[in-house]
Amino acid sequence: MKILALVGTNANFSYNRILLQFMKKHFQQMADIEIYEISKLPAFGVDVPLSEQTEVWKLKQKVKAADGVVFSTPEYDHGIPAALKSATEWLSYHTEVLKHKPVMVVGVSYGRQASARSQVQMRQILISPDCDANLLPGNEVLIGGASRVFSKDGRLINAEMRDNLEKCFTHFIEYIQVFKNITKEEAEMPIKRPTISDAYINFPTGRLTLKEVQQIFSTIPFEIDLVDSSDRFAWYSDKPNREHVRSVASLNEPVTECHPPKAVPIVMQIINSFRDGKKDVVTRPLWMNGHRSLIQYYALRDVDGHYLGTIEFTGSVEYILNLFENGGWDQNPDATTGASKHDDAPADAAAPVADASTGASESSADDDTASPAEAAGTPAADSEDGDDATTGASESGSVDADDETADASTGASEN
Ligand SMILES: Cc1cc2nc3c(=O)[nH]c(=O)nc-3n(C[C@H](O)[C@H](O)[C@H](O)COP(=O)(O)O)c2cc1C
Repeated sequence: MKILALVGTNANFSYNRILLQFMKKHFQQMADIEIYEISKLPAFGVDVPLSEQTEVWKLKQKVKAADGVVFSTPEYDHGIPAALKSATEWLSYHTEVLKHKPVMVVGVSYGRQASARSQVQMRQILISPDCDANLLPGNEVLIGGASRVFSKDGRLINAEMRDNLEKCFTHFIEYIQVFKNITKEEAEMPIKRPTISDAYINFPTGRLTLKEVQQIFSTIPFEIDLVDSSDRFAWYSDKPNREHVRSVASLNEPVTECHPPKAVPIVMQIINSFRDGKKDVVTRPLWMNGHRSLIQYYALRDVDGHYLGTIEFTGSVEYILNLFENGGWDQNPDATTGASKHDDAPADAAAPVADASTGASESSADDDTASPAEAAGTPAADSEDGDDATTGASESGSVDADDETADASTGASEN
């Protein structure tokens, strides 16, 4: 269970931070609590350029990845501190990261009212239409007399308050579990379980069940992501051990939202070049997770050429390159003609190779099929402007966004 806990102040010394540090340790068996300092964020403003929102983007990623978020608020003039309001505005403006996210409010203040008034305000904010969080009802953690209830080493020593905190946090974990079960089922519906498992999709070249489609995408040694024509992250293949780790929480997000801000211009440049018909493919060789990988972005178009979206095709090519480097192609006959390039090739090297899916021999005399690449209709690289379209270097060189490399479909870091 992953919980993100926001320190609701930018003060260097804070009892609310001490409370969260205590909770992190005290509840370590129950949850992995990550404490976040809102002092890292710029003050909210609708005019703050995207390029200055890297920290905001990072926080949004953390909120997305968390199962629940705890807001710990002090009380300033009977309300929440301006810095906390600002942070919450970042989490609600042009983003849905808090939508249906289980959230809990706790708070510490000096006074006897124990942050009750600021907590009421925080709760109202969190259920506003733009936040739309799933707020844990009741379960008030009101810690007043801050300077007396914590020990010097940061333990909550008031037994009544500690018991109440334990009860409320346990309820929060149970509350998250309820939503997790529902959302997991809902979210997994299109990913793990095709909805109409017996139906066939009839393609011009044959028919497949939905289950077969699902499993084909899970089995091929490449992963595919789709950004649809409205620039939203629409789908990713459910392949095990993906190079880019994707989350269903990111589905349907605008592509600009799922990228580090600094990467957005390049991402949009690739997508717009596809939409405008200027390019069909951008290719990037890249080291990922310690091996050589190939990322290819393709314009997805219907048969009339209308833009449907951008697909990102990623896979390790280490195996293929090793085959090549170890002479994998040196001995075998040419699949399209059956002829061996090597007149002196050993007899067994020139023997027909069985095709496991059809049983057809690749070297039969009347075999005039195209090469696999031709047969697959691989999009032609656009070399019109002199760029190296096969490497895409000029279009999509890596983007420096705090050492994170841009991923054109979702912005996930490849490092
Ligand atoms: C600008 C300001 C206004 C405050 N207003 C209140 C208040 O209305 N009620 C209250 O109980 N404490 C108030 N306090 C005291 C805070 O409760 C106290 O500073 C508390 O320690 C703040 O939480 P923190 O230690 O996590 O920063 C105020 C403090 C500041 C700096």
